[in-house]
Amino acid sequence: MSKLRAAFIGTGRPPERSGPMGYATAYWHADAYRLIGDIELVAAADIVEDHARLFADHYGFTDIYTDYHEMLAAVKPDILSVCTWPHLHAEMIIAGAEAGVPFIYSEKPMAYKWGDCRAIMAAVEKSGTRLFFNHQRRYSKAFAAAKELLDAGAIGKLQSVEFAAGNLYDYGSHNFDMCNFYNDECDIDWVLCGLDYSRESLVFGTHNENSAVAVWHYTNGVMGLCTTGEPAPTIGCHHRLLGSDGVIEIGRDGQPPLRVLSAGKPWRVIDTGGDGLHGTEFINRAIADAVAAYREGRPCMMDAANAYHATETIFACWESARRRGIVRLPLDTDDNALVEMIKSGELRPVKGE
Ligand SMILES: NC(=O)c1ccc[n+]([C@@H]2O[C@H](COP(=O)([O-])OP(=O)(O)OC[C@H]3O[C@@H](n4cnc5c(N)ncnc54)[C@H](O)[C@@H]3O)[C@@H](O)[C@H]2O)c1
Repeated sequence: MSKLRAAFIGTGRPPERSGPMGYATAYWHADAYRLIGDIELVAAADIVEDHARLFADHYGFTDIYTDYHEMLAAVKPDILSVCTWPHLHAEMIIAGAEAGVPFIYSEKPMAYKWGDCRAIMAAVEKSGTRLFFNHQRRYSKAFAAAKELLDAGAIGKLQSVEFAAGNLYDYGSHNFDMCNFYNDECDIDWVLCGLDYSRESLVFGTHNENSAVAVWHYTNGVMGLCTTGEPAPTIGCHHRLLGSDGVIEIGRDGQPPLRVLSAGKPWRVIDTGGDGLHGTEFINRAIADAVAAYREGRPCMMDAANAYHATETIFACWESARRRGIVRLPLDTDDNALVEMIKSGELRPVKGE
């Protein structure tokens, strides 16, 4: 099998200097490529030259850029990792696709406007690029075993999927993706959401509401429910799957990561082999699977189509708050309703509280 050459946009600061507003996810991607074994790390671009240089030193190459367009033209990588903040993902993925990169692995959330998500999908369809988004939790045994229990009928017929999170967009991106995973990527036909955004909350440079309650409906009849911020304890665990005959809970505080309640029996703790809700080993598995899927020409759980599905629901939630009504999908707006409500003065989040 021929070696693939990987390049990176947005390296972050070295991990020992990274923190909540900069995790340096490029190092996670690079470590995952190295584990695969036959991938050569060849180049990196970062507007902060020091970041790129330290990254290159760490991985033993010298080819660095401050302009990612120059890197794409000069290096022509087989693999491109996009590890910048969300408002930059669209322009970088589209540039990669237009430069003919065959494999792009991007960080989530997909983009900062729904129109940008559509533009991304159009660009990769045109170029034939395989595009993946890092919703790596699908590769934790805590979540995967929940899906296996569900598919094995442990809770009967699935009736609803629920999640609690800090926000709909930054962390919600993973959670909508997981809900769709449990429900076999079934289409969603409507979304209803109310939210509060009174204190400015910027995560990786993007606005995220303080609190929200959202409900959505899958075309197979399954309901979705999530709470973010202050009302999150209403759901009280990371994910809950309610079936006709039982309940699966993932990530309830003070409990092991996964447990199931089947009719007539007490809660049963499921062995997840040490896997919990978070961990870079899931990224190693996700990237290994994406590379294998690319080489074998088969689908992968990280395929952009799944991220697109999850991200549409996020933008539809914010759109529902703007319209104060149900939003029917497919979503027919291209902007970011949360940002537009701030621009219009309809939402006035106070800075620095
Ligand atoms: N999958 C996960 O679990 C997970 C965890 C944390 C973060 N993330 C996501 O990863 C993404 C990146 O976050 P991070 O923490 O790695 O960021 P970071 O701040 O550590 O690194 C981003 C880098 O991008 C560089 N940059 C900014 N503009 C650029 C430009 N125009 N060209 C080239 N480089 C540019 C910055 O200088 C910085 O070095 C975010 O979208 C975030 O949501 C995902």
